Formats: sequence, C-alpha cells, structure tokens
Amino acid sequence: MIARRSPAQIEKIARAGEIVAGCLEMMRSRCRAGVTTAALDAAAEEYIRRRGGVPTCKGYRGFPASICASPNEVVVHGIPGEYTLAEGDILSLDVGVTLAGWVADAALTVAVGDPGRQASRLMEVTAGALAEGIKRFRAGNHLGDISAAVQRHVEKNGFSVVRTLVGHGIGRQMHEEPQIPNYGSPGEGPRLEEGMVFAIEPMVNAGGEKVTVGKDKWAVSTADGSLSAHFEHTVALTADGPRILTAGDAAGQEGLDSASMLW
Ligand code: MF3
Ligand code: CO
Repeated sequence: MIARRSPAQIEKIARAGEIVAGCLEMMRSRCRAGVTTAALDAAAEEYIRRRGGVPTCKGYRGFPASICASPNEVVVHGIPGEYTLAEGDILSLDVGVTLAGWVADAALTVAVGDPGRQASRLMEVTAGALAEGIKRFRAGNHLGDISAAVQRHVEKNGFSVVRTLVGHGIGRQMHEEPQIPNYGSPGEGPRLEEGMVFAIEPMVNAGGEKVTVGKDKWAVSTADGSLSAHFEHTVALTADGPRILTAGDAAGQEGLDSASMLW
C-alpha cells in the first residue's frame, strides 16, 4: 500500500524538508580541503537539533552518524570519520530529518575545488536525471515512468545507474513503500496519485553499475573504483503536480525545468 498524504500532512513533511535543505546548504559551504567528514557530521547534528529536529539516520539500523558522507568512489552510506577532504574530491552528502513525527530526506554531491571534467559532468548528469524523474511524478503516470526517465538520462550520457539501491516512499518513516528503482520501463508499476510522497534518488557511476559493501558493513563503493554521484529530493505529488519539499529557498518550483536550479 502506498500512503497518500493530505495537504496538511505534506506541509509537515515540508517543515522537515526545510531543515534538510538548510543543513545540506550549510554543509556545502563548509566543504573545502582540510575539513574532515566527522566535522561535517558534527555540524549537521547541531544544525538539525537546534531546529527541533532529529537526525533520522543516527541509530537507523545501527548507523552511527547523523549524515552519510561518501567521497569519490563511495556511492552512498559512507560513515563520517577522519577522512579529510582534498582539492579535486567530490563528496556525496545525505541527510534525513524527523520533525514532529514526519521525515524528509535529500542528498547532493559537492565538488571540493575543481574535480575535473568527468566528475563535473557526472554531477551534472546525476542532478539532471533527478530532475527528469521528478518531472514524471504526475497523477496518471506510472512509477516506471520515473524510473525509465532517470535511467534514460544517465545512459544517454554514457554513465550507469546503480541497481541494487533504490529510492523510496517517505512520510512517517524514512523508508516506506514503494521502492523506486533508477531503471525500468515506462507504463510499468503502480499508478501515481495525488498525495504520494517519494524520495527520488539516482545513484550514478562513471564506470560500471556494480557496487561492493565495505568492511564497515555500510559504505557502498563502485566495484571498478570509478567515481559516483548521488542527488535526492523528497517530492510530494500535489494537485499542481510535483512539489519538491527539500529544495530550500535556492529553488522554487521553476527548478523543475533545470537541474541547475534544483539547488
Ligand atoms: N537517506 C538514505 C537512504 O534513503 C539513508 C541513509 S541513513 C542510513 O537510503 F542510516 F541508512 F545510512
Ligand atoms: Co533516501
């Protein structure tokens, strides 16, 4: 069963989403050479709690931190620690916030200085794939329309989508039904209806799609050591179409037409 939320409930998720967006923005501004991912995590936890939120990831299935920090070839679920950012790195940051019993979740990949042409293109294509997926989140469409749009955008640009990790419904819990793969066929899967709230999150590798899990049992990395990027928004399907609940002030709904306006 895919939950459908009322406009008032969607507003509550949007309040959690504002904290998520602000937290990502705050961390983005701190991403420079010499900063550890543990320092970003500490700043994020303080940011979230000062606003009355709870970092959803902390303690989730035993995850030890408030954010996931995944540098370079790490796809997702990197545990923050002593890793020190260096010029030319890319870093994926993923944050979930619970506020008054409602959850929002978003992620982005940040460059530290100039990461080079391939990494820049990878980030742009991944953000673009998210924008393409969000555009298909419309009443009457099917879940497969979102998945297929994401996959198409990634593959036509020569990159690959990770298949073993998916987006998800969100609301009372961080992970609710349905699972939202980043590959699929148009017209397949459940019909999309007003009130559904999804976390859409393409994870895109510069090389092959295969991934491995690290010794810490959390960090997921590309099997071939290639770079990976991750962009995610919590999005509600409203009477006016898709509404991004984690965009912050940087983007209004105009952002739907342009990946560069999503953040
Ligand atoms: N936001 C991530 C997701 O949607 C979850 C990270 S929290 C963790 O999968 F605890 F699972 F790492
Ligand atoms: Co998510």
